Amino acid sequence: METLQDINQRIEQWIQVIALKVEQMQQDFYVETKRNELDLVTNIDKEVQADFTKLINEYYPEHQLMGEEKSNTEVDMYKGYAWAIDPIDGTTNLVKQGKDYCLILSLFYNGEPLLAYTYDFYQKKLYKAMKDEGVTINDQPLQLKKYQHLKDALISIDPKHTSSNLLKALISKAHGFRFIGAGGIGALRTITGDFGASIDVGANLWDMSAQILYAKELGLVVTDIEGKEIDLNHVKGTIIAHPEIHAEIIEIIKQYGVK
Ligand code: IPD
Ligand code: CA
Ligand code: CA
Repeated sequence: METLQDINQRIEQWIQVIALKVEQMQQDFYVETKRNELDLVTNIDKEVQADFTKLINEYYPEHQLMGEEKSNTEVDMYKGYAWAIDPIDGTTNLVKQGKDYCLILSLFYNGEPLLAYTYDFYQKKLYKAMKDEGVTINDQPLQLKKYQHLKDALISIDPKHTSSNLLKALISKAHGFRFIGAGGIGALRTITGDFGASIDVGANLWDMSAQILYAKELGLVVTDIEGKEIDLNHVKGTIIAHPEIHAEIIEIIKQYGVK
């Protein structure tokens, strides 16, 4: 029986290989569209997910897998071991800027988060959380600087899915607003304390899975967009925030509504 450390070692090795592979593929890749012409996917997204699926099938065939580039109708994240993967979060950034895109990967057991990873390809930084072991960046313990007031903090929001009234209210009450175009990177800025909160109204589980363990390990708060506990099987939007700021944001959302 493998321990969590063994699983972690295997995953870290896999991420190292994938980091090199993506760096090479970035020289020459192709782009397709999904639901509409702004919804992009590349052969890199597909290959990273296919590669991870191969790894799971080979070493952990009894584990479930929820991924952006596959159908997930059969997956129940509350049953046994289950992974969530966004092979490339920020695909548009990869295509247009070659930076600010990441891999997001997490492991749950009966719905409890055990492992969480975000690999920022451009910065070559691996953010990792293990249950009860804290969060590291390239193996160095993360030191979080915490905010207590929205008025002092930068916040990140995806404006595409947010009503203009809510957006205006949030921006006017925060110190400032940033939109990176990759929810996974916005969350990283929040767990380091660069931002006080990261809000993604359109997020699915694969966009935000790592945030759940990061928040738990660092004493941050992660909920759905109405402030309720995340339902892993039906994620519709997420907020990760420093605790006092989370409360302030939920009050504003209650007042203005999401849509
Ligand atoms: C998207 C990015 C974006 C967020 C969207 C996501 P993708 O992920 O994280 O910032 O606002 O909700 O779908 O499509 O690049 O994996
Ligand atoms: Ca993606
Ligand atoms: Ca994503």
